[in-house]
Amino acid sequence: MYLLKYFDIMALRWLRVKFFIDTANVEQIREAKDWGILDGVTTNPTLVAKEECDFGSVAKEILSLVDGPVSLEAVSTDAEGMVKEARELSKMGDNVVVKIPMTPDGIRAVKQLSSEGVKTNVTLIFSANQALIAAKAGATYVSPFLGRLDDQGWDGLMLVEDIMEVYRNYGFETEVIAASIRHPIHVIECAKMGCHIATVPYGVLKKMFKHTLTDKGVRAFLKDWEKVQEKCKKK
Ligand code: G3P
Repeated sequence: MYLLKYFDIMALRWLRVKFFIDTANVEQIREAKDWGILDGVTTNPTLVAKEECDFGSVAKEILSLVDGPVSLEAVSTDAEGMVKEARELSKMGDNVVVKIPMTPDGIRAVKQLSSEGVKTNVTLIFSANQALIAAKAGATYVSPFLGRLDDQGWDGLMLVEDIMEVYRNYGFETEVIAASIRHPIHVIECAKMGCHIATVPYGVLKKMFKHTLTDKGVRAFLKDWEKVQEKCKKK
């Protein structure tokens, strides 16, 4: 029993929660990197559309800024096109991960790319069956979209729990990226389930730092410290 606990703890030491930032905005990425807690970046065409038109140079800047994996999305809809695009994207850096949509063509592409050692992130996952298929095809990551499920009255967190259970049952190496995160509770609930990664929008990352009692406490300590200075000056 104690021996088992010891081995569990030793095994868990190798696990660590990973935070990615879900943005194509270089300033936000730079700030999150400065906090010292950033493990990677995910982008998608919608996020890219909010930035400069020259995505090639934006992507290059992001790739050089971040040591960890950076997901860039393929926009072809047929398997051959996705494979071609993925090969090109992966030439941009060792940390490129190619985002591939969860379609039959996408899965054919993932199977081919995984045999070539190209890292993939199967995106737009809305069911555990889709996540199971992606893992069988050799996806490096899968991205279940929690928030979009919640928006439709489904339970996004339950989907992450189901995927984690299925992957543990078979020892799949595919890592789960909780995506379409809307608020800090999504992040902590995913961490409680042992989900490997949360890709978090900048605004939600900032909210994760905050607590009114922390702010109140900092203000009170500073005020009392000023009182100490005043009192000691008088003596
Ligand atoms: O990483 C996927 C994510 O960007 C989708 O988020 O907020 O558009 O549902 P959202």
